[in-house]
Amino acid sequence: MLPTSTRLVTLQGRPGPDGPVASDFAVEEWPIPALQPGQVLLRNIVMSVDPSMRGRLETSEKQYTTNFEIGQPLDGSAIGVVLAGEGFAPGTVVRHRMGWRDHAVIDASTATVVDTAAAPAGSWLGVLGQTGFTAWVGLQRTGEMKAGDVVFISAAAGAVGSAAGRFAKLLGASRVVGSAGGAEKVRMLVDDLGYDDAFDYRAERAAEGLARVAPDGIDVYFDNVGGEQLVAAINAMHIGGHVALCGMISQFDSSSRSYDINRLIEAVLRRITLRGFIVRDHEDMRPEFERTVAGWLRSGDVVNRQTVTDGIDHAVEAFLGMLKGGNVGKALVRLDTDWEV
Ligand SMILES: NC(=O)c1ccc[n+]([C@@H]2O[C@H](COP(=O)([O-])OP(=O)(O)OC[C@H]3O[C@@H](n4cnc5c(N)ncnc54)[C@H](OP(=O)(O)O)[C@@H]3O)[C@@H](O)[C@H]2O)c1
Repeated sequence: MLPTSTRLVTLQGRPGPDGPVASDFAVEEWPIPALQPGQVLLRNIVMSVDPSMRGRLETSEKQYTTNFEIGQPLDGSAIGVVLAGEGFAPGTVVRHRMGWRDHAVIDASTATVVDTAAAPAGSWLGVLGQTGFTAWVGLQRTGEMKAGDVVFISAAAGAVGSAAGRFAKLLGASRVVGSAGGAEKVRMLVDDLGYDDAFDYRAERAAEGLARVAPDGIDVYFDNVGGEQLVAAINAMHIGGHVALCGMISQFDSSSRSYDINRLIEAVLRRITLRGFIVRDHEDMRPEFERTVAGWLRSGDVVNRQTVTDGIDHAVEAFLGMLKGGNVGKALVRLDTDWEV
């Protein structure tokens, strides 16, 4: 018997100045729409919680995505197994964009098949998925990283950051340094995630921490956070350095927004390239990315790091926790505990 209803997460309110809280969301039971031609019904296995979903809770204009609507379900990347419909055989595992629910109906044309024999489902949202691909594009195309470069990565223990740290090393960086929140994460960066050195941005000013871990300056800054760390990185750049502007998680909540970046004279004096990127504009790089990183996973040069929370009832908790640094590697919610992720 196919299910006729699903549990899913809806938006109930927009974030206040200190950011979203649990009561901005609800878990509800909704009917599953009837399948139309070209659609499949899925059982979701695992879904992603991303910082970009924080931006989609607002009403501000979006250049490449849409805002969530009050009273309506959230959505986002997920891996699901096909139960019925047209386009994929039942049992096929696909990546798609209808997360935040146990079951989903999607247009088959919007999904791609993933090989869970080659790597577990979680990897296809993590180091082999959009997360790893973001690190790949940001380092190589946007940051123009070259062998021998000194690379600094913020939110270095997170999904994109932990991948970027490993990739930078494997692509020949001479020194890779990172920042994260808390002494335990800083220890992990060096002992487990392969960083040469790291600092705790909560315990010391970014300018001081960066000067200590990269005393001779940096060539590439992979910016996941913006604000004070971006200013520190610009001031530590070698002439002709590159900043890959990936995301600005420190700038989401209006109560903690900083205006440090209004004085950019150092970018002029140091002839720095500051370039923002949106990973989905760089699909031409994906085949080489998947080939290379799948090889690194097989050889053990790269390990897929993830923090997994179980159950749709805990998805909001996982999301809010990730925004506060509760994750190491990719933050995921497993929706079907019969699957290893
Ligand atoms: N441009 C693109 O196409 C693209 C694609 C994907 C992701 N992104 C961006 O990439 C960045 C990383 O995303 P992700 O999915 O890998 O998330 P993530 O790093 O796994 O999780 C977010 C991390 O941000 C850190 N953080 C939270 N508040 C912070 C603050 N005020 N200052 C500094 N760090 C803070 C937390 O780690 P700590 O414990 O270290 O604080 C937290 O673990 C985000 O900015 C995201 O928007 C961009």
